[in-house]
Amino acid sequence: GGLSAEIDSLTKGANMKFLPMKTLMAHAMKHGYAVPSFCAWNAEVMETILEICRRLRSPVILMAGPGEFPLLGPASNAAVARALLAKYKVKAALHLDHGDSLEMVKECVKAQFTSMMLDFSTRSFEENATALKQVCRMCHPKGITVEGEIGAVGKCDSTTVEGSKGSRLTDPDEAAEYARITGVDCLAVSIGNAHGSYVKLPQFDFDRLARIHEKVRIPLSLHGGTGTPDDHLEKAVSMGIAKVNVATALISALTSKSKPLIS
Ligand code: 13P
Repeated sequence: GGLSAEIDSLTKGANMKFLPMKTLMAHAMKHGYAVPSFCAWNAEVMETILEICRRLRSPVILMAGPGEFPLLGPASNAAVARALLAKYKVKAALHLDHGDSLEMVKECVKAQFTSMMLDFSTRSFEENATALKQVCRMCHPKGITVEGEIGAVGKCDSTTVEGSKGSRLTDPDEAAEYARITGVDCLAVSIGNAHGSYVKLPQFDFDRLARIHEKVRIPLSLHGGTGTPDDHLEKAVSMGIAKVNVATALISALTSKSKPLIS
């Protein structure tokens, strides 16, 4: 349909290669949807994701980072992903998720990832902004997308008021300043979302998201996609969320499917 045709025209003549994440997100913003983004740590997981996305005619972002690299390092992860992409011909990006150092970003540039997140959200504003500016300077000339995070998305737990440990909600003015200084293409926001399985259903701060979207005119990314109610997702997508990250749901599905094999 329209979606495939439009992205096709962007990649005409090109071999089926990973696209910059920016390309996928721009299309998503224009047409009012979010690109699903999955942590993928081995060939089986990547193949399942690509197979389903081909069937659904959906673009997708394959991600890996510090949680996945002990299983398959950047070069191997990218090589396996490229081999599978050639078979499935899905519109896809290969993204570094929660990169924790400039060295890791460089390694992923070398491995031909098409998008990078350096997560310095727990550091000072200055340190975070300076590093992300540097990543943009390194990546943009190569056509590689850059994602930063301001405010911090924590992990689900049952003890804190926000339902999440280590969270610091994104301040809209700070986000605007951060986007302006760094030049990032995509911004991860903290609006009541958290990584892991929600202990109680999240309550997103939509007023905050609306203000962020108004001040920061770049695509936004929602981390902690697992367990997010559909109505929350729909509303968030109408307010600039163009990428939804999922990891825990995949791991849970795999664990439950593996039980009969193990016992
Ligand atoms: P979940 O594990 O909650 O789905 O979050 C994934 C994520 O945000 C990866 O960056």
